[in-house]
Order: sequence, then structure tokens, then C-alpha cells
Amino acid sequence: MKCRVCREPAVIDVRRHNANFCRDHFLRLCRDQVAKAIEDFEMIAPGERVLVAVSGGKDSLALWDILLDLGYEADGLVLGLGIGDYSDTSTAHTVAYAEAKGAKLQRIDLREAYDIDVPTAAHATRRVPCSACGLTKRHLFDEVARDGGYDVLVTGHNLDDEAAVLFGNVLRWQTDYLARQLPVLPAGDGFPRKAKPLVRLAERETAAYCVLQGIDYVVEECPMAAGNRHLGYKEALDSVERSSAGTKHAFYFGFLQRAADLFAAGVAEGQGKADLGRCARCGAPSTAEVCTFCRLVERSAGAEPVALRPRGGR
Ligand code: AMP
Ligand code: FES
Ligand code: ZN
Ligand code: ZN
Repeated sequence: MKCRVCREPAVIDVRRHNANFCRDHFLRLCRDQVAKAIEDFEMIAPGERVLVAVSGGKDSLALWDILLDLGYEADGLVLGLGIGDYSDTSTAHTVAYAEAKGAKLQRIDLREAYDIDVPTAAHATRRVPCSACGLTKRHLFDEVARDGGYDVLVTGHNLDDEAAVLFGNVLRWQTDYLARQLPVLPAGDGFPRKAKPLVRLAERETAAYCVLQGIDYVVEECPMAAGNRHLGYKEALDSVERSSAGTKHAFYFGFLQRAADLFAAGVAEGQGKADLGRCARCGAPSTAEVCTFCRLVERSAGAEPVALRPRGGR
């Protein structure tokens, strides 16, 4: 097995590109794919300040590393979600990376800052954990980006994630979600611009990137996510990809090139939410007087903490 670029011994095969790569050329491929996504979708302009949401998993750590390597001013944000050991380990990996790199990292621990955690908030509000978790993450990512004056918020969603979400949205014809399933959403109405620079990289590639760069990441999946629909969609697409390499890429990028516009008409501004007011408690954009996050905090702060309840859905 030889590297496609230099003919030296290869360390990884990428079936989607029908090629093998040595360490250096694989790392370069990853950087090039991120740079291409940023350019093609106008995610980040030169000199802009970037906030990277870093979970401590392979994707967001690889993303942070690549952005720093490409020369972006990219600060990290990690949320302590209070999902038992999983959250503690995830945060520890993120902190270790930031310290090793001398990179700026902002930490918000839900228990310290709001007296809540994801399992307890999910229980108190009768939501599935991933729903309480998702709304908390979105709210805090937006808030930190807004307060810190960042130009863009980036997350580590990769090709496998986006293809699986697209698959789920298509299976149920969730046209409103399809309208917003873009690799970049413009800023508007109090929301920062949001971008997913890893859409051209698969999960296996971000994992290999971290291993080859010596970046330690949390390997376990979130215990609350086990058995959820999203993972089922991922497995279904994995099985198609195994027999037909490149299907995920064709599915997702075919959607962007040929179908996304049909759904996106009318949501170019304000991330799809027209005429938003401001939350009376926290000032976030909101259709109600008090935003969903502040209501979640009101209902769950001080509640008796619940044990982890695996098996969620989203
Ligand atoms: P997930 O929703 O767990 O698939 O994560 C999607 C993306 O959200 C990750 O790639 C990160 O960019 C971000 N993210 C997830 N969990 C956290 C966290 N605890 N702190 C900061 N960012 C996170
Ligand atoms: Fe949010 Fe698992 S990461 S519920
Ligand atoms: Zn090579
Ligand atoms: Zn609020």
C-alpha cells in the first residue's frame, strides 16, 4: 500500500477517494478538505474571529487543531453538560489540548453556572436527554459567540453526521429542517453565523487525524445517545457505504447542489425565525417572553439530581 502522492508506505486507505496516503499527505488531505469547505461555502473570511465548540471528541478536537494550523484566530468553548464521567472525561481532554497548544478555552459548567445538568433537566422538563442537551448547547453556543463578539461559531459535525441527519429528514420529509440543513447559516436577528467546516471529512478520517497528530480524545459515545434514531440512521448509511464507497458524499453534496435551494427559499435571513423578540431574562432571541433555555433552567434548577438514563431519541 503506497501513498498516492509520494509513493512512500501508506498508513491509511480512503476508499471514498480510492487512494492511500502516508501520514504527512493524509494530514495535508484533511487540512485541504477543511480549507476547501471554508472557501466553497464562505464560512470564514480572513481575519475573522472564530469560536470553536469543542466537546473533547475526535471531530471537534481535529477541527480546532486544523483551524489553528490554517492560521485562524480560533478560541474554544467547552460545556460541562453533567452527563456523569462521560462529561468529565470529555472536558478533561479539551482542557488538556488547550493547555498543550496554549489556546484560549472558555469553560461553562452547567452545574456551577445554572445549577442544572442534562439528565436532571431532561427529567424535570420531560424531554428526551438529547433534546434538553441540544437546546442547551445551541443556546450557550449562541450566547458565548454573541457576548464574545465572535464572527462565526463552528462545530465538529462531519460528513457522516450530516448525511445521517439528512437521511432522517428525508425519511420523514421534514421540509423545515431540510431548509436549514446547510453547512453555513448566515448571521441574523441576534444569532451568530454558524458553520460546519468538517463536512468534507468522514468520521474515520477525523479519528485517524487525531491519532496521527497525537491528540487524545474521548472515544466513548455519549451514554444518553445509545439507541437513538440518529445512530440508527448512521448504521444504515454505513452499511450502504460499505458496499458502495462514496454514497454518503454523493447523497449529502448532491442535496446541497441540487435540492437544498428548493427548501431554503425564504430562510436566508435570521436563520429562519422571523420577527423575534428578546428573552426577558437573558436577552436571547426568542418568540416567547422567556426563552426555552431560561424556562428549562427555571424548571430544573435545584431539582433533585437524577441518575443517568440511557436511551434517548432525537
Ligand atoms: P453532538 O451534538 O454531540 O454530535 O456534537 C456536535 C458538535 O457540537 C460537536 O462536534 C462539537 O462541536 C459541539 N459540542 C458537542 N458537545 C459539546 C460540549 N460539551 N461542549 C462544547 N461543544 C460541544
Ligand atoms: Fe447531549 Fe448526549 S451529548 S445527550
Ligand atoms: Zn505521501
Ligand atoms: Zn432566556
